[in-house]
Amino acid sequence: MMRDQAMFQAGVEQHSSDAPSRVTQPSFWDALPARWNSDADDTLVCCQVRNETHDVKSFFFRAGSGRAFVFEPGQFITLELEINGETVNRCYTISSPPTRPHTISITVKRVPGGTVSNWLHDHLHAGMLVRVLGPAGEFTCARHPARKFLFLSAGSGITPLMSMSRAHHELGEDSDIVFVHSARTPDDIIFARELDLIAANQAHFRTAFVCERVGARTNWTGITGFLTLPLLRLIAPDFLEREVFTCGPAPYMQAVRNLLDEGGFDRKHYHEESFSFETVSEAAAPVETATRFKVSFTRSHREIECGGAQHVLDAAKQAGVRLPASCTQGMCGTCKVKLVSGEVAMKHAGGIRQREIDQGMVLLCCSKPLTDLVIEK
Ligand SMILES: Cc1cc2nc3c(=O)[nH]c(=O)nc-3n(C[C@H](O)[C@H](O)[C@H](O)COP(=O)(O)OP(=O)(O)OC[C@H]3O[C@@H](n4cnc5c(N)ncnc54)[C@H](O)[C@@H]3O)c2cc1C
Ligand code: FES
Repeated sequence: MMRDQAMFQAGVEQHSSDAPSRVTQPSFWDALPARWNSDADDTLVCCQVRNETHDVKSFFFRAGSGRAFVFEPGQFITLELEINGETVNRCYTISSPPTRPHTISITVKRVPGGTVSNWLHDHLHAGMLVRVLGPAGEFTCARHPARKFLFLSAGSGITPLMSMSRAHHELGEDSDIVFVHSARTPDDIIFARELDLIAANQAHFRTAFVCERVGARTNWTGITGFLTLPLLRLIAPDFLEREVFTCGPAPYMQAVRNLLDEGGFDRKHYHEESFSFETVSEAAAPVETATRFKVSFTRSHREIECGGAQHVLDAAKQAGVRLPASCTQGMCGTCKVKLVSGEVAMKHAGGIRQREIDQGMVLLCCSKPLTDLVIEK
């Protein structure tokens, strides 16, 4: 049940220790520490929890080893948590910018009934240790240089665009960015004050918040309704000249694609990231191949067939075997399983550590069978 908006209190929980603050130790500032690498050191310490809105919190982490975080703005990490005796993986975008290398933050919205988002909100506090994989991901402005950007986000989809905005701002680059964020009500706008501050500091950074309804904030003078083509033309008349980055719930992204197409936008300059597994995985098309292999799952006792040119995850889904997956591109590690016997050709993108591969683990979303397989699942 949603809490009353008026009851929400902004707050910060921090881990206090008897050790003197690192800020007061000259040696801490001598040089940047070595680069953090989740392959060698996968445990991070939660050092702060911040309430952002009534159902969104940011969690800050530092490396236990004191190493520095290196990533591209927009990339994500995968949390590996033990909840009720089960290992669960979920991806969360790094909402902080790479220009703050000593810590990273994730910003998590509670999903009603969701296992991990609720666990994080209810249990993760400063001082706790969390296993993390990454960073990974290709949804980043770092790989798409442009003179002008249009950031379109809705709900928790704001996080990658926030990291990109913070990075531009903290590098002192007066980049031309129009940031249009859609939220249910004004009280649901994440990072509203910080975005206003960036806009105040940066001549060519503009924000527009679009709220479905006014909610409890009856003095809201911003835009109410949904993002439409006429509204986009008003906010960013030159949107056809911009590099567009979009992140949000599937229906929102579909609406954005439709309105950009209607406006004649060239999709070559369009980039999006989905947070929802269904929208990504549905793209997997059935593949017919002559060579077919038997894939057996030891725990569910299911047996399926998989073509030699087909990813095991796709074959499992087609056969109605539901397996955990998220990115479906070998990046997040959610579909990691133990291969008991058999061989696969795996083309991953950082979602698995070398030592895990050495221990016989594979990612099913990017593995094609070379023989019959037995999988512990
Ligand atoms: C690259 C990437 C980046 C992301 N970044 C962020 C981010 O920055 N911030 C953020 O908040 N989220 C982010 N996400 C989403 C995040 O990974 C999780 O998916 C989200 O937090 C929900 O996880 P959960 O465990 O709470 O929900 P889940 O337990 O996965 O449940 C999701 C939904 O399915 C329903 N459900 C669960 N089990 C069942 C069942 N058996 N039958 C029917 N319905 C069921 C739940 O009620 C809920 O509505 C990102 C995802 C990706 C892929
Ligand atoms: S689903 Fe992300 S690595 Fe397989």
